Amino acid sequence: MNRAEKNLENLPWVEKYRPSSLDEVYGQPDIVNTVRKFVAEGKLPHLLFYGPPGTGKTSTIIALAKEIYGKNYSNMVLELNASDDRGIDVVRNQIKDFASTRQIFSKGFKLIILDEADAMTNAAQNALRRIIEKYTKNTRFCILANYAYKLTPALLSRCTRFRFQPIAIDALERRMNNVVLQEHLNIGQEAKDALLKVSKGDMRRIMNVLQASKSSVDTADGEITREIIYECCGICRPEDVQKILKSILEDDFGTAYLTLKQICQAKGLASIDIIEELVALLECYELKNERTRQETLVCLSEIEYSISKGCNNKIVQSAIIGAIKTAFEHETASA
Ligand SMILES: Nc1ncnc2c1ncn2[C@@H]1O[C@H](COP(=O)(O)OP(=O)(O)O)[C@@H](O)[C@H]1O
Ligand SMILES: [Mg+2]
Repeated sequence: MNRAEKNLENLPWVEKYRPSSLDEVYGQPDIVNTVRKFVAEGKLPHLLFYGPPGTGKTSTIIALAKEIYGKNYSNMVLELNASDDRGIDVVRNQIKDFASTRQIFSKGFKLIILDEADAMTNAAQNALRRIIEKYTKNTRFCILANYAYKLTPALLSRCTRFRFQPIAIDALERRMNNVVLQEHLNIGQEAKDALLKVSKGDMRRIMNVLQASKSSVDTADGEITREIIYECCGICRPEDVQKILKSILEDDFGTAYLTLKQICQAKGLASIDIIEELVALLECYELKNERTRQETLVCLSEIEYSISKGCNNKIVQSAIIGAIKTAFEHETASA
């Protein structure tokens, strides 16, 4: 094993398996084709990539830049992370230094990648708008963000926007199987399905959970089970949520409270995780009276809000039980 390979071995899998070319970007074919066309026509506009985490925004622009510049990458591309330093002065100076030095040997645009731009203050974004205008002659900007609404309209209107969707299951699965093969993982279909489901289209999560699961099996070829996947995600298993809901609906308050508390303790779950899973379960739960669902969801959303304000956990757990029990009174009334 040479030194480069050894370094690769020590990397977290999210880096080790970061796409090295646009062909390795999974599940975003339209975006990849469009940006490729821009490059082929030599008409790269300022770009804005936005969408949920782990969908390939950073990977796509880096792969694109590698495709354009090849060996010249480090001379022609400036990567800035806007959340490192929210003030604009640092960004402005770095951009100015980078953009104003002319390339003698290579022609074409320089590329400035501004990651996590939605972490910038409004004032900084406004300053950025002027910087973009000033350096458009020899630079292109690519702005990356999770939420487009956190960017100022002036900035938005200067970029061609691409929304990154959560990655589709089949693309996630292809990439996952790829990594499973390369890492010689022993993982069954049931565990894979669980992982695909909990990832919710986030490839970074798949990589992280796979790596964590691998280190939590004892032997090198030990099987990664569905249990391990749920444990590594810190997510409630569907059976456990069903058990909690059943107990709330059928048992008295004290018993239901104990069940909820025990499951939370045993699995190391927070009330917020339970609420999330309960909501997912209740969304498709078969009911006689739609009012039951509406009331439950409204109450659970209020409890979720109070958790974010720092409500006592014991009160939250009781409130969950109370909310569901009260709302389900319509069910028995209409039966
Ligand atoms: N579309 C994708 N195709 C292949 N791998 C991906 C994709 N999206 C994310 N990944 C994986 O997840 C990691 C994080 O991706 P990244 O591009 O940084 O996501 P984002 O910037 O959208 O949050 C990458 O290193 C890569 O391993
Ligand atoms: Mg990113």
